Amino acid sequence: MKVKYRRPRGTMDYLPDYLDRWSYIEEIWRTLTRTYGFREIRTPVFELTDLFVRGAGETSDIVSKEMYTFTDRGGRSISLRPEGTAAVARAYLENHLYTGPQPTKLFYVMPMFRYERPQAGRYRQHTQYGVEVIGSADPWTDAEVIHLTTVFYERLGIQEIEVHLNSVGDKQCRSHYNEILLNYLRSISEHLCTDCRNRMERNPLRVLDCKQQGCQSYLVQAPKMVDHLCLPCEEHFSKVRRYLEQFGITYIINPRLVRGLDYYTRTAFEVISKRLGAQDAIAGGGRYDRLLEVLGGNPTPAIGFGAGMERLIYALERHGIEVPQRQHLAVFVISVGEAARQEAEQIVTRLRAAGIASDLDHIASTKLKNQLTKAIRLGARYAAIIGDDELAQDTVVLRDLADASQESLARGSLVEVLRQRLDNSNLC
Ligand code: HAM
Repeated sequence: MKVKYRRPRGTMDYLPDYLDRWSYIEEIWRTLTRTYGFREIRTPVFELTDLFVRGAGETSDIVSKEMYTFTDRGGRSISLRPEGTAAVARAYLENHLYTGPQPTKLFYVMPMFRYERPQAGRYRQHTQYGVEVIGSADPWTDAEVIHLTTVFYERLGIQEIEVHLNSVGDKQCRSHYNEILLNYLRSISEHLCTDCRNRMERNPLRVLDCKQQGCQSYLVQAPKMVDHLCLPCEEHFSKVRRYLEQFGITYIINPRLVRGLDYYTRTAFEVISKRLGAQDAIAGGGRYDRLLEVLGGNPTPAIGFGAGMERLIYALERHGIEVPQRQHLAVFVISVGEAARQEAEQIVTRLRAAGIASDLDHIASTKLKNQLTKAIRLGARYAAIIGDDELAQDTVVLRDLADASQESLARGSLVEVLRQRLDNSNLC
């Protein structure tokens, strides 16, 4: 058939086979986050633009270049949510979640929108699963959040991952470090790309993030934030590292890991999958102890991470990890002739009422052979067949589609027989 419309660039149609894998992953995610004491939150797909400008930071690429922003009919500037943290922080304040026991531990699975250049693992609509722990300054919380991510990937069977860790300090030590860094950047500015030169006066830290080969060779020599932390930040960082070691997590200190959003303080981390090519971060997060205050709340320490679901599914493919196949249909009911068709409709209704996943051929007049082929293509476990003989004898033929064996049963016993056979499967 001719395709007249195509999906917008950088988006995906989430088809059933893909979503089978997604559901499997999401179930593990939901079970695991519950085990760690998290509860779910969902925020609107769009927010006032200012929330992200103030929250994620005007100089960040996400806000300055990648947001889907429009004016609504009421004249407000609205943006599709490019990231979850500012939105969750807003919801925490607006819904007074701080009045409950602290910290508030929230997880989410929410679509995000960024006008980025699409490539493998990078989309204009992607879904992030993530957590935010709001109301704890304890370094154990940092380690707990990182532990959750590593356990999650372990459960999915992804082995070749690296945890990259850094501390970006707090307001005090970072402004001091920014000066030291800026001096260094000025001294090498002739070797830096135009982007870096533009960025360095406004946000020197972000220059460290540049992926250009030419810049990188000069940036490795740059002064490191971890060498300029104030005492409280230094202590926090060393405690986080100690806890990570207690959790048995191997990590790499990466002094150039600064993350692309402006709200980070102290701990910053990314989980990298070596098989992903350019878009190798399967998760990223960190502490954001000032964000709640910036959004109008009381000073409230917090930490979290976000991770791309589509990128994770891509990572599973790249790691050759097969997700267990789910069988969808227990029984396909096949009928030959008008009277048998009516009986088939009743059987399907009875099976469904008993919770047994079943269907029949919606194109009524097809031949037995075509219906059998369809049953197999749909992945049904059994076919229940009724023709004239079965109608007359009040029976049904039950065919096991795995080995093509079949038997004749009293029609009234079909539900019970199937219940027993399917007892341990996920089909009923
Ligand atoms: P982020 O690093 O911008 O952080 O995104 C988190 C993760 O989302 C990335 O590591 C990547 O797996 C995935 N991701 C980002 N952009 C795309 C894209 N265009 N296509 C596919 N996947 C993508 C944040 O958004 C922070 N809010 C994370 C956080 C939560 N920090 C503290 N709490």
